[in-house]
Amino acid sequence: MINLAVDPTQAVSFFPDGFLMETQSGISKAFTQLLAGTGKGNDFLGWIRLPSHTEAGLLKKLSDDAARIREIAELFVIVGIGGSYLGARAVIDALSPAFHSLHKDRKNPLILYAGQNLSSDYHAGLLEILDRYSYAVAVISKSGTTTEPAVAFRIIRNHLEKKYGKAGARQRIFAVTDASRGALKHIAGTESYTTYVIPDDVGGRYSVLTPVGLLPIAVGGLDINALMEGALAMEEIALETADFEKNPSALYAALRNNLYRLGKVTEIMVTYEPGLVYFTEWWKQLFGESEGKEGKGIFPAGVTFTTDLHSMGQYIQEGARNIFETILSTGKSRHDLIIPNDPDDIDGLNFLAGKSLEEVNRQAELGTRMAHVDGKVPNIRITIPCLNEKNLGQLIYFFEFACALSGYMLGVNPFDQPGVEAYKRNMFALLGKPGY
Ligand code: PA5
Repeated sequence: MINLAVDPTQAVSFFPDGFLMETQSGISKAFTQLLAGTGKGNDFLGWIRLPSHTEAGLLKKLSDDAARIREIAELFVIVGIGGSYLGARAVIDALSPAFHSLHKDRKNPLILYAGQNLSSDYHAGLLEILDRYSYAVAVISKSGTTTEPAVAFRIIRNHLEKKYGKAGARQRIFAVTDASRGALKHIAGTESYTTYVIPDDVGGRYSVLTPVGLLPIAVGGLDINALMEGALAMEEIALETADFEKNPSALYAALRNNLYRLGKVTEIMVTYEPGLVYFTEWWKQLFGESEGKEGKGIFPAGVTFTTDLHSMGQYIQEGARNIFETILSTGKSRHDLIIPNDPDDIDGLNFLAGKSLEEVNRQAELGTRMAHVDGKVPNIRITIPCLNEKNLGQLIYFFEFACALSGYMLGVNPFDQPGVEAYKRNMFALLGKPGY
């Protein structure tokens, strides 16, 4: 049973008659390729059955390690880049209380991130904080050779060993990497770090439901069993049929494919919750890295409303008409906040008195959607009833499955990222790496 829904009406209203149904055969073909493993990149399909095939024992071990980390650390540093941190950050930010870093009675370590950039100021600032608090580290890299996290891990490991000694540091380092390959696997083996494996057939941006995402999420005090249950519910629906009426991932993939055919080359993910900024970042990586190749692909962008109505709203309303929006509407807030009455009403806001802020946000969503549709911006609306682990699990699987279908519809391999190598070659040559 899933409670995610896709409202296609304000995209379909932009289509010529019969346009959407023309895509059903293409989606069905992509679906068959995906399930039969006959499409491009078919050695990276392990994510499809992660929810149903992840053993309870692994979830238990992750929860036990997370509990141990919570006992010894005030901070937990995730060292990773791209798919090796975005999924975890998406879920942790979405479900942690706002400003939780300032909560004195916080029960879970604060999760910090490293190795997702090469900034000296960022990492020096992080070390200053790590001087002052107890901490543990997860170093996450599928290849085990990515420069940014490898450099950050070298710096942090050095700090950790000075602070706790080599043996003490060993208790505080958790490696998540390939089963047999890569420098990180080698270091983890030599140093006997607690190690989790990223399955061979799961690529970085499809790995949030492996220990890559699950370990940090569990340390953040969130329920990884519920996350997997939600993903499983969506797996069951997604694998059943390619029919748009029954498979929301298939419908979303078809809608965006049709919008692309109509020249809508930019998709803007719209959320109304600041906690979803990193969920949007995760989604951007998933679709951008999966589809943007061979001169093709929709450019994924993101905005948080109503904040960005005061920066990007003008462009969306009246700029070039090659965009569409995908609204991620997340339903009931976790907190009620009622706008008070003011007898003087100098600000003229008493018409809102007694209403919840959530209601105002909801009407902002409705009003903006109407304005943007009037401004000729099609939109797809994805709804979940509220933000919790189960619903985020559904959403994650929903987008992964839709992304794979979309990539196949486009005719590209949605599971590789050859273009990412270009900057590395230049950087290595400039830095004098042997062989470049
Ligand atoms: O989706 C991907 O494969 C990439 O974005 C990787 O996640 C990213 O490049 C990090 O790679 P690694 O986990 O090998 O360090």
